[in-house]
This record gives sequence, C-alpha cells and structure tokens, in this order.
Amino acid sequence: MAKDDKKNEWKEFFWNPRTREFCGRTASSWGLIFLFYLAFYIFLAGLFTLTMYVMLLTLDDNTPTYQDRLATPGMMIRPRSEDLEITYTKENTESWDMYVQALNRFLSPYNDSVQEQKNHECTPDKYFIQDDSGNVKNNPKRSCQFKRSILEDCSGLYDRYYGYNDGKPCIIIKLNRVIGMLPGKDGQTPSVSCGPRRYKIGKDEWADDTDKMGEVVYFPRNGTFNLMYYPYYGKKAQVNYSQPLVAIKFLNMTLNTDINVECKINANNIPTNNERDKFAGRVSFKLRINSRN
Ligand SMILES: *[C@@H]1O[C@H](CO)[C@@H](O)[C@H](O)[C@H]1NC(C)=O
Ligand SMILES: *[C@@H]1O[C@H](CO)[C@@H](O)[C@H](O)[C@H]1NC(C)=O
Ligand SMILES: *[C@@H]1O[C@H](CO)[C@@H](O)[C@H](O)[C@H]1NC(C)=O
Ligand SMILES: *[C@@H]1O[C@H](CO)[C@@H](O)[C@H](O)[C@H]1NC(C)=O
Repeated sequence: MAKDDKKNEWKEFFWNPRTREFCGRTASSWGLIFLFYLAFYIFLAGLFTLTMYVMLLTLDDNTPTYQDRLATPGMMIRPRSEDLEITYTKENTESWDMYVQALNRFLSPYNDSVQEQKNHECTPDKYFIQDDSGNVKNNPKRSCQFKRSILEDCSGLYDRYYGYNDGKPCIIIKLNRVIGMLPGKDGQTPSVSCGPRRYKIGKDEWADDTDKMGEVVYFPRNGTFNLMYYPYYGKKAQVNYSQPLVAIKFLNMTLNTDINVECKINANNIPTNNERDKFAGRVSFKLRINSRN
C-alpha cells in the first residue's frame, strides 16, 4: 500500500491531473520562465554583437591594432635548422646539400629579374616614406628592390654551393618585419655584426670561440640594412615587400670543432641586451664543419 502511494507521489510530481501542474508548475508558470530566459539570452547576444561591432569599427585594415610593436625586432638565420645548429662534413655532399637547397629556395624571390619586375628602384640611404594623406590611403605602396646579386659571393650566383663545399659557408641573416619601424636615428644605417658568443664553462668562468671563428666577410659590405627598406607598411599595404638581407661568410673557421656565433643588430635606437628574449635584435647559432682530412 505504502509502496503504491510513493509511486503515485512520483507520478504526480511530474504530472498532477488535479492541479494541472507539470513538475510542480502550471503551464503559464513554465511559460514565464521560458520567456524570461529567452529575453535574457537575446539580451546577452545583443550585448555581444554590439561590443564586437564597436571593436571592429575601431580597427583599421591597414594598421593592425595588436601588432608586435616591439621595441626590438627578432633576428633569424637561413638556412634555419631546428636548434640553430649547422653541422656537416665537408667531403660528404649529402650532409650539406639540404643547406644549399634551403638557400636556393629562400633566395629565389630575390632573383634580380623578379625584383626588377616587382619592385621599385629606390634612392638609397634614406627612408622610403609613403604615408597616407589623412583618410586617403596611399595604397598599394611600392617596395624597394633587393637584388640577390647584392649578396655577391653568398648570392649563389657565382658560387652555387655558397661555400659549403670548401668549408667557407655563408649564413643569411634577416631582421623580422615590424610595421612602422625606422631603425637607426639621425640617418645612421643599421648593420649586423657577428662575433663569438660567450658561454659558461663553470662557475663564473666563461669562454668563447674567438680564435676558432676566423675572419668573416659581410655582403653587402659593412653588413648594412639600407634605410630605403624602411618603414614597412604591412602585408596588405605593401604586397611586394622584400626584406633586406645580410650574408656573412666564414673565411677561415677551424674545422672539427663547435663554433658558437652571435649576430647582433647595431642601430642606435634598437637595444639588444634583452635578457628574456634571446631573439630580440640578435641571434645565436652553432657551426661545426667536420673534415676527414
Ligand atoms: C631564380 O634564379 C635561379 C637560378 O638563377 C632559378 O633556379 C630560379 O628558378 C629562379 N627563381 C625564380 C622565382 O625566378
Ligand atoms: C607587385 O608585383 C607585381 C608583379 O608580380 C606587379 O604587377 C605590381 O605592380 C607590384 N605592385 C606594386 C605595388 O609594386
Ligand atoms: C663601410 O664603413 C666604412 C666606415 O664606417 C665607410 O667608410 C664605408 O663607406 C662603408 N662602406 C659601405 C659600402 O657602406
Ligand atoms: C686561418 O686561421 C689559422 C688559425 O686558425 C691561422 O693560423 C691562419 O693564419 C689563418 N689564415 C688566414 C688567411 O687568416
């Protein structure tokens, strides 16, 4: 008997035919709750849409709001390997062929003929300013030619193995794009310089590979990034932009040993001593050329 009562109680909780209540509420009560939540969610959706709309209004297609307006642009090398180590055996073509292939691919868009077709011959040693006048966009903006032949012995045009076959390898250095950056104050041209990287060998004991690094040469000479390649206006405004490059060639490095190199940008308005970001204005890599002789 008591069991049946319990069962009926449960049934009546869901649907009580006497009071016409469903789960303890009348149809109109449920209706009101439903209406309340409907209104509530429409309100939330509206608020979200409005916020989005206002935010999008403040965005400009050509100047990203949250770009990396870093104080210091990053630097990178080519050929690029995962751990920034370039290691090969001079006599073993297969051990360095991938580096040559990578440089060929990287430099292909810099072919003189391609650059002549796409880009503008700019006046060197001054910024190539193409600002908008008020709301009138000065787009598309032109970009300056950076011809592969500027890299001379490291262009792959005269020495198609970039020196890898005779133990005098070329490394190409680029400075990451930063929209609007004007490197070098007062007309000073920014340049790259590479040297041995200091490394720790014990408590308060440091060493470097100065004597093993040997003489290096830069292309273009002095390792400069010409001012005419700046400022960069962004992918959308400046579709054909080619980043300027600096190549470094190791002329007399010691074989069969690791050589730790650090390259830095020298510009009077770019700091390179950020302890937290090791790619800020500098890049370190390890070179090792083995030889069986
Ligand atoms: C650039 O030149 C190299 C050899 O000079 C050639 O192999 C390559 O296909 C060229 N790339 C383009 C995009 O023209
Ligand atoms: C970009 O390069 C193409 C050829 O590849 C050229 O037709 C176009 O005019 C160039 N655009 C600008 C803005 O220089
Ligand atoms: C390289 O630097 C030296 C001294 O700073 C300067 O006299 C020379 O003109 C520069 N060469 C080039 C090609 O910029
Ligand atoms: C190359 O480096 C070696 C030492 O590593 C040195 O004895 C030699 O004089 C250097 N050669 C040139 C041309 O600088």
